[in-house]
Amino acid sequence: MLEKNVSMIIATNNQHKLNEIRKMLPLSFTLETLKEAGVNFELPETSGSIEGNALQKARTVYLETGKTTLADDSGLLVEALGNQPGVDSAIYAGLPRSDQKNVDKLLAELDGADNRKASFVTVLALIMDGQEFLFEGRVNGQITEGLSGNGGFGYDPVFMPDGYDCTFAVMSDDEKNAISHRANAVAKLKEFFDKQ
Ligand code: IMP
Repeated sequence: MLEKNVSMIIATNNQHKLNEIRKMLPLSFTLETLKEAGVNFELPETSGSIEGNALQKARTVYLETGKTTLADDSGLLVEALGNQPGVDSAIYAGLPRSDQKNVDKLLAELDGADNRKASFVTVLALIMDGQEFLFEGRVNGQITEGLSGNGGFGYDPVFMPDGYDCTFAVMSDDEKNAISHRANAVAKLKEFFDKQ
C-alpha cells in the first residue's frame, strides 16, 4: 500500500489488542493511545451489539478529542450457543472480567457437544472529519475440548481456526495476526485508506 501519513487515536485499553493493531498498520500511521490522548475514563459499551459498541466507543472519544478515532469491538460467536457469548464475550462468566472463568464456562457449556463451530468477529469503527466508517472482520473455527497454548488472550487457548491444527494461543503473534478477525478488519481499513 502507499505510505499514507494517518494519525489516529486507538480507542482501546486492551494492551493486547493495541499491540496487535499496531503491528498490522504501516509505520507511517501515527497511533495515539487513549492515555496519550488524555481520555482517562472507561468507555461505554452498552449498545447491545458488537457493531454498536464499536461505534459508541469511537463516538465517545471523537466527541471528547475531535481527533480521528478508531475503536474496536469484538466477540466470539458460538453456533451451538445461539451465537453467544457475542457482545458479552468479555463478561461471559460475570464481573469482574476473567479470561480464565470465561473459558471455563464456555468449555462447560459445550461439554459433550458435537457442534463446536465458532467465529471471532471484530468491527472497527473509524470516525474521521465527522464521518463514520465500519469495517468487519471474521475468522471461523472450532472450540477445542481443552486449553492449549500460552499466547494471546481471551478465548485464544480454546479457539482453533479452520485450516489449522492448533489454537490461536499456540500460534506466534505473526501467525495469528495473518489470519485473525482483527487482521481481516484492519486489512479492510488499510484498503479504505489506500483509496483516499
Ligand atoms: P472487546 O469487547 O472487543 O474487548 O472483546 C470482547 C472479548 O472478546 C474479549 O474480552 C475477549 O474475551 C474476546 N476476544 C476478542 N478478541 C479476541 C481474540 O483475538 N482472542 C481471544 N479472545 C478475543
